[in-house]
Amino acid sequence: MSQKVLITGANGQLGKELVELFTEKGFEVYGFGRDKMDITNQAQVQEVIGTLKPNIVLHSAAHTQVDLAESEPEQAFSINAYGTRNVAVAAEAVGAKLVYVSTDYVFDGTTDEPYNEFSPTSPLGVYGKSKLAGEQFVRDLHSKFFIVRTSWVYGKHGANFVKTMLKLGEEREKLSVVADQRGCPTYTLDLANAILELVDTQKYGVYHVSNSGSCSWYEFAKEIFEISEMKVQVNPCTTADFPRPAARPANSVFEHMSIKLNNFSSIRPWKEALSSFLRNN
Ligand SMILES: NC(=O)c1ccc[n+]([C@@H]2O[C@H](COP(=O)([O-])OP(=O)(O)OC[C@H]3O[C@@H](n4cnc5c(N)ncnc54)[C@H](OP(=O)(O)O)[C@@H]3O)[C@@H](O)[C@H]2O)c1
Repeated sequence: MSQKVLITGANGQLGKELVELFTEKGFEVYGFGRDKMDITNQAQVQEVIGTLKPNIVLHSAAHTQVDLAESEPEQAFSINAYGTRNVAVAAEAVGAKLVYVSTDYVFDGTTDEPYNEFSPTSPLGVYGKSKLAGEQFVRDLHSKFFIVRTSWVYGKHGANFVKTMLKLGEEREKLSVVADQRGCPTYTLDLANAILELVDTQKYGVYHVSNSGSCSWYEFAKEIFEISEMKVQVNPCTTADFPRPAARPANSVFEHMSIKLNNFSSIRPWKEALSSFLRNN
């Protein structure tokens, strides 16, 4: 009998990719957007998950607007912390495995080293704090969980940095892009495949999942135009040149220690993934 998978945030960038991949792999997939299951509504979450009794819950719904979160912290905590609590309680009650998608923004980025899954967390802003509070609820309330931290996500669904660069590149000859923040780009398809591999096991815990290698946003932008054969001059600038409401970690490069120690497939380098995305979409 095929496994039942319930996906929260199913209309989001990652949610849509998860729905597609798990459907293609033969799972019985139930994707819920906010309209059908608002994760802040505990009664509704319990009703939906309690009725469907999925084997696996993939929780990708979140308040993801990092800057907006600074001015509406209650919204961010309501969705990312208590919404996650609601999902964790309901998933635990039906015995489902739970994947909670978290973020590199749980780190402050003040070290020069890559962060592994056991590095101390210290989020800079409301978004990171609320996602970390969600992680804590998962640890406290669920017994079979994967906390999957990811970063700099792009893919065919939804708005993201790659699409923004391609659009700006059509409109302008020159662009300034931040060169003093480093991280790991992540293609939604590679993230979804890694999640697929994780949930087939009982190797519960925290995982850093991104494409391998790292870059600055400036290097990322240059590579996008290089692969796309677009003649756009990209100039490096600093974070201070473009003040934003939310502080970002200067270094949020991941080490994939848990993937390695648990013998999961390594994830391809970011340039390879980017090239595959740009050529196939
Ligand atoms: N994008 C990144 O670079 C990045 C980096 C690190 C981690 N992550 C994490 O990855 C996950 C997926 O992100 P994404 O890029 O796919 O973001 P996204 O496109 O913004 O998707 C998030 C989805 O969650 C939904 N949602 C928000 N509040 C909800 C609620 N109360 N009930 C049900 N659904 C709700 C949103 O619906 P509405 O459209 O109706 O608001 C949206 O469809 C998130 O957990 C995020 O924190 C993302």
